[in-house]
Amino acid sequence: MIWKCWILLFIIIFTGLIDNTRQEKQDDDDDQADVLVLTVASNETDGYKRYIRSAKIYGFANKITTLGLNQPWKGGNMLTQGGGYKINLLKKALKPYQNDDEKIIIFTDSYDVIFLASLNEIVNRFKASGGRIIFSAEKYCWPDKSLSNKYPTIIRGEPYLNSGGFIGYASDLYEILQYSSVKDTDDDQLFYTKAYLDKELREKHKIKLDHHAEIFQNLNGAVGDVELRFKDNKAYLQNTLYDRVPLIVHGNGPSKIILNSLGNYLANAWKTYPPIVMGIFVDRPTPFIEEFFDKIYKQAYPKSRLRLFIYNSEEFHEKIVEEFIKKHGSEYKNIKQIMPKNDIPISTARNLAMDYCLQNECSGYFSIDSVAHLENEYTLKLLVEQQRGIVAPLLKRPGNNWSNFWGTIANDGYYARSTDYMDIIENKRRGLWNVPYINNCYLINVTIIGNIETRPKYKHADIDDLDPDMAFAAINRDRNIFMYVSNRLKFGHLVNADDYNIKYTNPDMYELFNNKFDWEKRYIHVNYSQSFQQNNTPIQPCTDVYWFPIFNTRFTKEFIEIMEAFGQWSDGSNSDKRLQGGYENVPTRDIHMNQVYYEKHWLYILKEYVRPLQELVFLGYFHDPPRSLMNFVVRYKPDEQPSLRPHHDSSTYTINIALNQVGVDYEGGGCRFLRYDCAVTDTKPGWMLMHPGRLTHYHEGLKVTRGTRYIMISFVDP
Ligand SMILES: *[C@@H]1O[C@H](CO)[C@@H](O)[C@H](O)[C@H]1NC(C)=O
Ligand SMILES: *[C@@H]1O[C@H](CO)[C@@H](O)[C@H](O)[C@H]1NC(C)=O
Ligand SMILES: *[C@@H]1O[C@H](CO)[C@@H](O)[C@H](O)[C@H]1NC(C)=O
Ligand SMILES: *[C@@H]1O[C@H](CO)[C@@H](O)[C@H](O)[C@H]1NC(C)=O
Repeated sequence: MIWKCWILLFIIIFTGLIDNTRQEKQDDDDDQADVLVLTVASNETDGYKRYIRSAKIYGFANKITTLGLNQPWKGGNMLTQGGGYKINLLKKALKPYQNDDEKIIIFTDSYDVIFLASLNEIVNRFKASGGRIIFSAEKYCWPDKSLSNKYPTIIRGEPYLNSGGFIGYASDLYEILQYSSVKDTDDDQLFYTKAYLDKELREKHKIKLDHHAEIFQNLNGAVGDVELRFKDNKAYLQNTLYDRVPLIVHGNGPSKIILNSLGNYLANAWKTYPPIVMGIFVDRPTPFIEEFFDKIYKQAYPKSRLRLFIYNSEEFHEKIVEEFIKKHGSEYKNIKQIMPKNDIPISTARNLAMDYCLQNECSGYFSIDSVAHLENEYTLKLLVEQQRGIVAPLLKRPGNNWSNFWGTIANDGYYARSTDYMDIIENKRRGLWNVPYINNCYLINVTIIGNIETRPKYKHADIDDLDPDMAFAAINRDRNIFMYVSNRLKFGHLVNADDYNIKYTNPDMYELFNNKFDWEKRYIHVNYSQSFQQNNTPIQPCTDVYWFPIFNTRFTKEFIEIMEAFGQWSDGSNSDKRLQGGYENVPTRDIHMNQVYYEKHWLYILKEYVRPLQELVFLGYFHDPPRSLMNFVVRYKPDEQPSLRPHHDSSTYTINIALNQVGVDYEGGGCRFLRYDCAVTDTKPGWMLMHPGRLTHYHEGLKVTRGTRYIMISFVDP
């Protein structure tokens, strides 16, 4: 999703910077003497030039014949229907080959088509298809929708014919072009569609559709199916829906805009990836560090052009850093690492990272701290394109005014808010801003680092106790080196590491308040929000018992780990010192939220994530915030407490969240509602049962026969 948004803006903002002129002949297709590439263009538009250029890149521009060039277009208005003219031109062009059943004809549009591969590859895939004619396929049945039910049924794939690209043997193609006469202003796609839907013709000429984008990728309606990816400094198009790498891309219909932006990269249009050293600094315990490294990894910049300098001073994070290096280290050009045991202060490390950059003939130095999450995979590339001495992407804490730059500086050298600060962080004004202070993430050009007069410093000569970030910015200001921050696009956000308490087991679980955005991404079930969609009917396994996905399995796993690490399960007797009265009528083996310091979080979860679900199913009951005195995790196991006798809860409604997997972690178990003689036994981790507490929903906990079952219970609004 993100790339779609940036890519649109991208066209507007950055096209000027892209080098479209590079051409590279890849392989000679001399062995493809029997192939003719045909297209129609009346004008040498930019789109046409792009098409020819892409063929040049892949070494077969000399194979292209352009029909109708510099002649008046007679094919009607292509925005509605038309294009029969293309067929008539093609008929004429194929006449000399009408009996040639070996010559392969590749026909495509030109203004909105880019070749992504050599002629060899295209022809090989055509041959592998087993057809004698193959048309590209798309999601929409156009121009005559009513023909859609005449198509042969397929199980999976793009169903309908698109005539913007096809390949076939000359004799077969020539014959289907005679199928019926066609006026210049008739619709060409309609013509080919009818030919294809004629079963006899279809079978005779083995006409196929390229349902899975083996060769042709039509973009209309399929933008979400494709991803721009990079390998060896080169961009390619990946169809993630069918797991294919298509060889010809067509921006049919309204997808031309997307094609234009993809065209900035495809067919080697963009390949200036200067070598960069990425300085990664983990100098404090930081929540959501896995995601941080994940986003570093996902930066769409060729890893062969990146060297990493990883500084970590926190033992707590060693495991994650090591895992990252073990898993991905070899993909990068090189990695240099500073570990906690090296005991190097961060200002020194920042200097070493710049040295490392200079030693390795870098073009830029990209410094990033562990709180800076780059959701936009193109961040580094976009920063490079800014061609500034020092430039940062704007990052801010979600739901907060805290960002990685200051709009102005007070007389004492500290933070002050500029008049435009709010407009900038809220993206009401977009641009590249010259600012007096940046931190956490920025790119510095090597020309600045390489010159002793301008090389950044993290220690102020006069002010001893200035923190390294403050010193960095202050020295740049003193030297009149501009620091820019860009909010031209959305790049990512900052995590708040201030009160991160690593004494807890799975401390990220406790970050609900400080880092709600990341917490939700990490722990809330991906389908949580589906329950709120209009056409959604809540699942009701028993009368007035509802069932919702709420947490993912990462949550349930870490939650159990928290409980087991704490380990002080109650003894299952009626006397319970944790309760006000000291007496529990229906005791379980459990741990209360407040025992693991999760009570406050849990009440917030009830308010934020549980209550809205309740309001969906128990209509007319509003209680915000929900109250709950009893929030606990129960453990059932055969040799401890395997089941719970029938009882009512002291609640208006009760929630019961499965934390592990029946059939895997344990056998048996479940909840049975006696009045309805209805049991829910196939519970799923992270799914929540919600049922009334009293009178109607007398229930019991069914016996666990093997393993250990964990559930989370709250008695809401007692
Ligand atoms: C081609 O260019 C001519 C004159 O420059 C213009 O009249 C005509 O509309 C153009 N045709 C197309 C298809 O863009
Ligand atoms: C650094 O500046 C030089 C000279 O302006 C430029 O050619 C190069 O692309 C820049 N490098 C980066 C990474 O921005
Ligand atoms: C952000 O700043 C605005 C404007 O000063 C203020 O109204 C708002 O409350 C601030 N937001 C937070 C979360 O502090
Ligand atoms: C979420 O819902 C989709 C379809 O509704 C389903 O295919 C997917 O498996 C669900 N994800 C999980 C983690 O349950």
